[in-house]
Amino acid sequence: MIISKITCIGAGYVGGPTMSVVAQQNPDIQITIVDVNAARIAAWNGEDLDQLPIYEPGLKEVVAEARGRNLFFSTDVDKAIDEADMIFISVNTPTKTYGKGKGQAADLKFIELCARQIASVAKTDKIVVEKSTLPVRTAEALKSILDNTGNGVNFHILSNPEFLAEGTAIQDLQNPDRVLIGGENPEAIEALVKVYEAWIPRERIITTNLWSSELSKLVANAFLAQRVSSINSISELCEVTGADVNEVAHAIGMDSRIGSKFLKASVGFGGSCFQKDILNLVYIARSYNLHAVADYWEQVILMNDHQKQRFAEKIIQTLYNTVNGKQITFLGWAFKKDTNDTRESAAIYVADYLLNEEASIVVYDPKVSAEQVYKDLDSLGTRSPEDNRRLVTVVNNPYAACRETHAIAVLTEWDEFKGYDWQKIKEDMKRPSFVFDGRKILDRQSLEALGFKYYAIGE
Ligand code: NAD
Ligand code: UDX
Repeated sequence: MIISKITCIGAGYVGGPTMSVVAQQNPDIQITIVDVNAARIAAWNGEDLDQLPIYEPGLKEVVAEARGRNLFFSTDVDKAIDEADMIFISVNTPTKTYGKGKGQAADLKFIELCARQIASVAKTDKIVVEKSTLPVRTAEALKSILDNTGNGVNFHILSNPEFLAEGTAIQDLQNPDRVLIGGENPEAIEALVKVYEAWIPRERIITTNLWSSELSKLVANAFLAQRVSSINSISELCEVTGADVNEVAHAIGMDSRIGSKFLKASVGFGGSCFQKDILNLVYIARSYNLHAVADYWEQVILMNDHQKQRFAEKIIQTLYNTVNGKQITFLGWAFKKDTNDTRESAAIYVADYLLNEEASIVVYDPKVSAEQVYKDLDSLGTRSPEDNRRLVTVVNNPYAACRETHAIAVLTEWDEFKGYDWQKIKEDMKRPSFVFDGRKILDRQSLEALGFKYYAIGE
């Protein structure tokens, strides 16, 4: 099977960067990324590459190279389906907010809509690739919809989960640890292998059956998140025993069986994937009556919630047990550095906790807009949008954010925070001047020398 046209449904954090790199590396394949969100597509097509809908280091260069050559962004989903030999589904699969499985199961309504649309439009055989993260055995449902509502053409389904991390997406796509392809039809699998072989060595492209591939994605995220919760649990123990969590992480990480990555204690993991995918794993385990398995993985989430709450409580307790009317400056709102994505960011939950105590919060993040900050808080439904706007101010200058403030809380590990003129910040702050470092990026010694009261996770 020779693939000459690929369509990707979903122009989000995965579809956009992934397909841009596929297009960059396969100039002979025409790639069309489609989305129902017209504003998003317009932004992908915009003249100003600094205004792409997603901020990722290196992304605009890739888009600049391929867009208009063999990479196209469109809202015409039907046309793109009709033309394609291979269709990636890269739509969102959020946690369900209603009905059975509410708060745990993945909501597959967008996936099903895609399948029905592909089935109704397709007049030639297609390879359909699951790029979204899906519960194990989703391919079965997809196949049933495609075969029963289609026009009698053949569909081959592949699972090809994406392992990129935000902030390093382009690097991860250009040089992945591995690519995983699950499927039943050897020719369809080989067709997708060929696409990746354009830039990835064959030995790093793993092929498995469909169910192993679907499940591996959930398990990879669960293992990664588990490491963060494990080290975060130890950070609390460090704080009461005089051990330093960075030293412990370094000491255990040098054991090659443990490894040094993903052992950075923090205010808690965020992002659109870890929590959603673990909840989904827990739900799947429970649905097979595997309660011990479900309970085991659920602890990863409970520990993460605990860590966020613990950080907020530490701030309140240190500020003499009340933050009512006190200004607290948040440096960072994104869930990690080098992205404008705020989904499930720890900052949202720490802010909510402090706002319940009537704190007044000033936010500075180099890539997140005021509109997004308010949207994140409003979507919690804890208080009225008016109250969120009364209690929270978003500014675009870090020094202005820290002026006259009682305390600074570092919520995201943006590099620029390290290079600030901390002496100047100290001079303009209220006294005593507190810094709560939820990312352990600032230097205790120099801040204490300037007169700050410095608190960091796990010390
Ligand atoms: P996203 O919300 O950024 O993008 C999804 C896009 O799909 C949206 O723009 C939406 O408008 C579009 N869409 C939804 N239904 C559609 C339809 N029927 N037709 C056309 N367009 C439609 O989501 P994302 O972060 O790109 O995640 C997509 C999938 O990839 C999820 O399953 C996620 O779990 C998985 N994933 C995400 C990451 C990540 O870092 N964000 C990494 C690996 C895997
Ligand atoms: C994750 C997976 O890494 C990626 O493979 C998958 O495709 C999508 O989900 P992402 O959520 O984009 O990627 O970022 P990641 O780097 O994994 O960080 C997730 C969260 O964990 C962030 O909030 C980050 O700050 C936090 N984290 C990560 C820590 O607190 N400590 C660590 O040591 C690592």
